[in-house]
Amino acid sequence: MEKVVSLCKRRGFVFQGSEIYGGLAGVFDFGPNGVELLNNLKRAWWKSNVYDKESHYGIDSGMFKHPKVWDASGHTSGFSDPLAECRECNTRIRVDKELGKVGVVADEKMSEEDINKLFDENRDKIVCPKCGQKNFTPARAFNLLVKSNLGDFTGDGSDPVYLPGEACQGIYLDYKNILDSMSPKLPFGIVQIGKAFRNEISPRNFLFRTRELEQADTQLFVKPNQNKEAYEQLKQDRMNWYISIGIKPENLRFKQHDNLVFYASDAWDIEYNFPSLGFDELEGIHDRTDYDLTQHMKYSGVDLRYTDSETGEKYVPWILETSVGMGRMFLAVIADAYYEEEMGDGIRTVLKLHPSLAPYRAAVSPLLKNKPELVAKARGVFSLLKKEFGNIAWDDNGNIGKRYRRQDEIGTPACIVIDFETLGEEKSELKDTVTVRNRDTGAQERVAIGDLVGYLANK
Ligand code: GAP
Repeated sequence: MEKVVSLCKRRGFVFQGSEIYGGLAGVFDFGPNGVELLNNLKRAWWKSNVYDKESHYGIDSGMFKHPKVWDASGHTSGFSDPLAECRECNTRIRVDKELGKVGVVADEKMSEEDINKLFDENRDKIVCPKCGQKNFTPARAFNLLVKSNLGDFTGDGSDPVYLPGEACQGIYLDYKNILDSMSPKLPFGIVQIGKAFRNEISPRNFLFRTRELEQADTQLFVKPNQNKEAYEQLKQDRMNWYISIGIKPENLRFKQHDNLVFYASDAWDIEYNFPSLGFDELEGIHDRTDYDLTQHMKYSGVDLRYTDSETGEKYVPWILETSVGMGRMFLAVIADAYYEEEMGDGIRTVLKLHPSLAPYRAAVSPLLKNKPELVAKARGVFSLLKKEFGNIAWDDNGNIGKRYRRQDEIGTPACIVIDFETLGEEKSELKDTVTVRNRDTGAQERVAIGDLVGYLANK
């Protein structure tokens, strides 16, 4: 994990939030290369969840929501983690996670009473990560919702507007608008990539557990009790998608939840073998039954039933959900693509990202940056490719070996070098050809400038 974090900072993928002030725990910024990878991931995910599907509608809902939403959803009462405090130094720990570290299976969905029973049985094994003592308060449920003061002009904070605890609530709130504006027939999906905020007790492991996150959600609305087959299909589709973007199948697996979160009747995770952590949740796939729409119907007083156009029957659809944090997806993709290997005269670090995800399609370099004729020719190639692909890097910093190493670490699939042969100064038959170096093999080919666009598109 340390190597991945270091590469992310060194190469402009991810920075600690508010770093010059000592950092803000659980918040990260995506740098120039990171935002390209993140956007490529979002585009690939959107294509698979909207464009490749029938009757799947994308939305982008407002973040702030009516305070009653979080009562209806169950978050104000049930969205909590078990927290205990060290009596010696006031350090707070997340009890389920600390129990897990000493081999005791507990999870965030257990009742306060059950967690405390396990905690009491294992107190001698759990030490404070700061002072090393074993003197903790009992665990209490700590609510993870983050409050805002939006519209609180009196300042009494009695009815706070929360930041979203999960992005999918925006989908349930717009479900009726989608029915009225798009007239979909069941089954249909509503899809969104939206922000969520959680007052995580111990944000940790880089992008794995953050306080500000983005969730990519598909909510599939199906007829009541017609959930089983569609649920299995969703699970397989999502697993296959991870493999299609280049994640190694041996680093992925399914895991069913033993203890279900308050809204789910069945829940599976797709787990990824994260560096330092081992297999842990990458994406949640939940059978939410009619819980959400029934709750919102009760709290809002608005009829959210679907009218079956064939039978005229009215009913509340059931919801199947897939939800993945974009940061966790980003971490899994970078970790999976990270290699250190022998090449030429030493060890190189390389990100073998799927070419469609890499921040740049290719990098263009003049062999020497102090030769104006090479630079002018390289600029021409750069403009040609940039017009076609957009994301092309210009790299004339340091010698060619250093440029290759740098582009390897960014994951650029091809490096294009304009040299004296391109100018036709050495062998006239090589005039207007360039060297293209392959990131994964290091092999070099000579390609005519006129063929470059087609060559890169094919690769
Ligand atoms: N709407 C369902 C939902 O929010 P969840 O299992 O709490 O379910 C779904 O979250 C996904 O969001 C997780 O599988 C994970 O990828 C991501 N996620 C949740 N909490 C996170 C956190 N604190 N930091 C980063 N990602 C998180």
